[in-house]
Amino acid sequence: MKLAKRVESLPPYLFAEISKKIAAKRAAGIDVVTFAIGDPDIPTPPHILAELHRAADVPANHRYPESEGLPELNQAISDFYQRRFEVRFEPMKETLALIGSKEGIGHVALCFIDPGDIALVPDPGYPVYEIGTMFAGGTSYRLDCTRETGWLPNFDAIPADVAEKAKVLWLNYPNNPTGATADIGFFQRAVAFAKKYDVAILHDNPYCDTAYDGYQPPSIFEVDGARDVAIEFNSFSKMYNMTGWRIGMAVGNRTMIDALMRVKSNIDSGIPQAIQRMAIEAVNGPQDCIAENNAIYQRRRDRMVAGLRKIGLEVDTPKASLYVWAKLPAGVTSADFAAKVIEDTAVVVTPGRGYGLNGEGYIRLSVTTPDDRVEEGMRRLEAWGGM
Ligand SMILES: Cc1ncc(COP(=O)(O)O)c(C=O)c1O
Repeated sequence: MKLAKRVESLPPYLFAEISKKIAAKRAAGIDVVTFAIGDPDIPTPPHILAELHRAADVPANHRYPESEGLPELNQAISDFYQRRFEVRFEPMKETLALIGSKEGIGHVALCFIDPGDIALVPDPGYPVYEIGTMFAGGTSYRLDCTRETGWLPNFDAIPADVAEKAKVLWLNYPNNPTGATADIGFFQRAVAFAKKYDVAILHDNPYCDTAYDGYQPPSIFEVDGARDVAIEFNSFSKMYNMTGWRIGMAVGNRTMIDALMRVKSNIDSGIPQAIQRMAIEAVNGPQDCIAENNAIYQRRRDRMVAGLRKIGLEVDTPKASLYVWAKLPAGVTSADFAAKVIEDTAVVVTPGRGYGLNGEGYIRLSVTTPDDRVEEGMRRLEAWGGM
């Protein structure tokens, strides 16, 4: 059997080593506390589930959905952006439902990247930006983001010949894995860069409503002219505890939205309609779960930041996202640290190296672990004392 090069060039699974260790601990009957994945532990709100139950009984929802999605969902997505960011999108032309935002993020490279083309991707960053580029035959040019730059790329540092050749620029604020945020001034600079070099901006914004201490993350569409060059991916996953239902959205430039819709309509057959109904209910129903979740995550964040500082790690308290990003002592690699922590304490953290070269020397912990488990995990780390 001859597999395609794109499969063979996939990076090794980030958690392979750690997964083995977790399995060994569990097989030995040891209780493992995991901070690994950004997957809300809080259930989907009851009114959204009630809509699923109702929609499941409607025979029309048993059939193939339309690729473009239910018009009521496009309207709901448009209403969400209007309410949250005061920007208006024409529902059928400037919004698109996705099978989880990851699906659109993975496929969008097919709209822009021909073999040999360049995508500008942040390092560290969500790995799908680079993988999607590779699947389309393109090359990723990594934009260095470091603690010193606030984990933001410096557009002036991109060589002109790279910028001329680049087709897309990936951005993601609030950021996974660093928890960094970006202000409107940053997005203005990004839009100016994109216009100068005729580059499409793909902004990934699933944490726009996962924020703390009263902070309200912006949308790139709060910048004048962003609609000429950008689309934004967003998600029902984190806002409404709906990761398991797989539904997300893209909004923005109509040519870009249309291209993504055309690619998708040749690959998938849309989102199960009962799940689309859940998303419509999520937007139109009570919004209490967002503030409730954030209060819970903020409490956990504070406990985790305090615990990590106690064991000698440097942590900037994140204003948004589901992640606490901690700097390890000099000379300790993130893989070694994660392996030692699980070995000694049966606590799982994610090595930053899995998100890019600039993630080396950092670990990521997710706040989506129940309160009592956060307490247990932090007590174990504090008793252990660090490396
Ligand atoms: C930055 C980023 N983008 C996209 C996603 C995917 O979210 P979804 O559940 O909508 O596919 C995640 C999930 O963790 C993420 O962290």
